[in-house]
Amino acid sequence: MSVFSARTDFPRTWNPLARALAERRARGLPLLDLTETNPTRVGLPAPEPVLLASVEALGYAPEPQGLLSARQAVAAYLATRGARVSPEHLVLSASTSESYGWLFKLLCEPGDNVLVPAPSYPLFEYLTRLEGVETRTYRLPRAHGFGLDVDEVAAARDARTRAVLVVNPGNPTGHFLQEGELESLGALCAESGLALLSDEVFSDFAWDAEPGRVPTVAGRELPMLTFSLSGLSKVAGLPGLKLGWTHVGGPAAVRDEALARLELVADTYLPVNTPVQLALPGLLAHAPLFQAALLARVRDNRRLLLEARPSDARWDVVPAHGGWSTVLRIPLEPGEEATCLALLDEGVGVQPGYFYDFTGGAFLVLSLLPPPEVFSAALEPLVRVLATSG
Ligand SMILES: Cc1ncc(COP(=O)(O)O)c(C=O)c1O
Repeated sequence: MSVFSARTDFPRTWNPLARALAERRARGLPLLDLTETNPTRVGLPAPEPVLLASVEALGYAPEPQGLLSARQAVAAYLATRGARVSPEHLVLSASTSESYGWLFKLLCEPGDNVLVPAPSYPLFEYLTRLEGVETRTYRLPRAHGFGLDVDEVAAARDARTRAVLVVNPGNPTGHFLQEGELESLGALCAESGLALLSDEVFSDFAWDAEPGRVPTVAGRELPMLTFSLSGLSKVAGLPGLKLGWTHVGGPAAVRDEALARLELVADTYLPVNTPVQLALPGLLAHAPLFQAALLARVRDNRRLLLEARPSDARWDVVPAHGGWSTVLRIPLEPGEEATCLALLDEGVGVQPGYFYDFTGGAFLVLSLLPPPEVFSAALEPLVRVLATSG
């Protein structure tokens, strides 16, 4: 019998792509890295570091939900997104990942499950398993532009399902939740006693205007317990500062009970670090500058990609409306991994769709964050390698 818990028995073998990438790096070969999604490494505007330095930053105030001044700053930020919320209904944490952990503790007994979208960022499998919670997948059909299909959600439920997770907009699929989808989801959650966890970390990064888009579920009158999650990691491009927030909504009695219980969970881990909470108003004031630069970058790179695609290409750029990435649908042969390896030989790093649980075809995922000179230099080898597929 192992001394370790089964919860931490994750596979750690390297796939051929990770091995090839490590080898390339070890040999010191150059790489046009279209897997780079670290916002602090791609030349985007950063806030003044001085924001984090003050005498008060060394203080400690045991407010489990987070300092009121910091929660007021989040409420003011959400108001600029059209969501009127009370700071009393916000809980700060060290990241959205930590918020997920707290919410799974709040909602699930060991062995219960939550419904997660696929394709999606491969984060939930780890976050749930570490809490003794299982996942059941609902597919985002390509025919719906990888949008939410409530029948798929309904079909994925079982007797131990406690919550539905929605990523709005999807990562890497870039589909925003629509009013009609939220309405059907609300009815399903209310009828089945499920909570809604809405991951809105990319919701400020819309590439266009769409009628009927739901930017956030915070501040909405919904018939079920609702948690809306975001944080500095994407909103201000500062994952290293470790600050996330959760807005708790839904019918008043169950919302207040959730807040009381979350307060206890948060208190158990002690509040978020003081310097980042004190700096939060300044960091959120900087966010629009960062977001405007990021959106210009993403739009430019996507335009370069669309322009580089030959009109008779056997691959397509999957339509999307937001986020930091783009998805290519490529020929089934030679397949995702062989294509990624061929691109790596040409000095271009991209991710295969299977990292994100795409099915029903072959896909590549490209980050749109790299500087334009890196992104455009990668396009010639990309187009050339893809021309030999299929
Ligand atoms: C959809 C989604 N949610 C959450 C996270 C994690 O964010 P945080 O740094 O706040 O834990 C990521 C990270 O890439 C993400 O893609």
